[in-house]
Amino acid sequence: MCGIVGYIGMQAASEILLAGLEKLEYRGYDSAGIATVGEGEIHCVRAKGKLQNLRSKLDGIENPSQIGIGHTRWATHGKPEEYNAHPHMDVAQRIAVVQNGIVENFRELRLELQQKGHEFKSDTDTEVIPHLIAEYLARPESAAPATLASSPFLEAVRQAVNHLEGAFAIAVISADYSDELIVARQQAPLSIGFGQGEFFCASDTPALIPHTRAVLTMENGELAKLTPLGVEIYSFAGDRIKKSPRTLTWNPIVVEKQGFKHFMLKEIYEQPGVVRGCLEAYTDSTWEASHDTPPVNLGLDESLYENLDRVQILACGTSWHAGLIGKYLLEQLAGIPTMVQYASEFRYAGAPVTPHTLTIGVTQSGETADTLAALAMEKERRKPLKPEYQPRLLGITNRPESSLGHMVPNIIDTHAGIEIGVAATKTFVAQVMAFYALALDLAYRRNTVSKERIQEILGGLRQLPGQIELVLESQERYIEELAHEFGDTQDFIFLGRGINFPIALEGALKLKEISYIHAEGYPAGEMKHGPIALLDAKVPVVAIAMPGSVYDKVLSNAQEAKARDARLIGVTPMDDKEAAETFDDLLPVPVVDEMLSPLLSVIPLQLLAYHIAARRGLDVDQPRNLAKSVTVE
Ligand code: G6P
Repeated sequence: MCGIVGYIGMQAASEILLAGLEKLEYRGYDSAGIATVGEGEIHCVRAKGKLQNLRSKLDGIENPSQIGIGHTRWATHGKPEEYNAHPHMDVAQRIAVVQNGIVENFRELRLELQQKGHEFKSDTDTEVIPHLIAEYLARPESAAPATLASSPFLEAVRQAVNHLEGAFAIAVISADYSDELIVARQQAPLSIGFGQGEFFCASDTPALIPHTRAVLTMENGELAKLTPLGVEIYSFAGDRIKKSPRTLTWNPIVVEKQGFKHFMLKEIYEQPGVVRGCLEAYTDSTWEASHDTPPVNLGLDESLYENLDRVQILACGTSWHAGLIGKYLLEQLAGIPTMVQYASEFRYAGAPVTPHTLTIGVTQSGETADTLAALAMEKERRKPLKPEYQPRLLGITNRPESSLGHMVPNIIDTHAGIEIGVAATKTFVAQVMAFYALALDLAYRRNTVSKERIQEILGGLRQLPGQIELVLESQERYIEELAHEFGDTQDFIFLGRGINFPIALEGALKLKEISYIHAEGYPAGEMKHGPIALLDAKVPVVAIAMPGSVYDKVLSNAQEAKARDARLIGVTPMDDKEAAETFDDLLPVPVVDEMLSPLLSVIPLQLLAYHIAARRGLDVDQPRNLAKSVTVE
């Protein structure tokens, strides 16, 4: 989703801005632009489409300006055309603004400003911001807080943001204040990078780490003035806030492709390491049933566990699928009734409030607007209630430094490393690992399964990295070949049952996201209640048939599809004769405990989606219309 970068310092800004925007490309966008200040004017260049188009427009233009802002836009209000691309300016073209988020009251503001003679050139909500700032600059109010009396530009931005409703992060420059870059944050991510005599801002840290590791994450309701001499932070009320940056521990190498054709493929291959990392972080590697110590340590507050009766999981997209597996594990291992809801639904129709309930927000980015809003809503509605109803919030995220990390007191860090491919792969596996750890932790505390069973499951989890490696080694070439056969396929059905039903959903989602093929995931037993009508020889059916309680049932459901001429692809146990007779194509995985099977069955489906999309020549890492981090509602 929209990316913001900003620079002020001693170097030419435009190349730094472009390089920063390239680091944010993975978030998804459809137009881009930069604005700099030079010789008392703002120079704004924008282009529809990929950053390369913007680069071409800037080619050969000498631009020594040492201050600027840049933006990649993911269209919300107004088509992805150049006139809607950011930066946007006021009528006199003295102020330029980039924004990530949505100004919800932009219609009222636009009308008011139009009545005052402001003319608008775009369909965006953002354009009201530079006009509003220009209004406040033209008539400085005497009510400016003493702290800001000597900073008219900052004061005008402060007044403007106090009139904006919604979730937004902005960066602003002015031709008349060429040594000030102003930024503000309200419910959308924004960080400031500290260099030597130069400062950066960005909506996501990959744009900052090539320059500095000293990073300050802004909080909601804060604005900041960046000058070549330093950074000053204020509240929206104008009070000065003292804060220091922290040091990021990331290695820039993690955001390179390292020889893989796409980030997605690289991230698929990182999954064995991710599982190892999670096991190291969450479990005691020496634990056995005879031990008296807990097998899992997540470092969560003890109060989360007290009289725990119920769990509700809120998430979007792939994280919601991880939540469905979490539900299975929490119910089957720890015996806790668990509900999983789309955050975007929950926030407007929350389930009835129950006592002793743990609410888990799952979001790899920690920035998904709906998930954050659903958690905030849950917190607020519980606050006035009796002690047993008080909010117990837990976040599962790959970015503990994110907005979620700031909002929720307890976090399980999924340790997957940054994920660049828009289609989530390794972060999904890491979220599922977090749920194994939580379910085992709770099962041990509640004594719902024997210690021997816990030892068995932990032993199985420890085998997984090697087994995932085996699937990758033995399957990739075959799946790449198989992908050739779906050059013209328009529909796919994915079937799974029990703990593998969410994997059917995830397999279908991966395929839709990156190959634009219509795909549906269904519980195998439900196929005859609808999707069976879609079947014919042109619709391949992928069935996940892993050994366990529903293996025979899935095979029977697959036979029903076969009887309708569907081409059957099976994710099946290795060396299984019955499966070999049932399916046209086999994607075999090692035989494991049913409880652990999703972490293996998902791997061939990720590879299948990847190779079908790559074969079609599509932009695998940045599929059309999608964003990595959905920071608007
Ligand atoms: C977007 C991404 C998906 C992701 C979903 C939720 O739609 O394209 O890959 O699953 O957001 O993201 P989150 O960061 O909350 O896990």
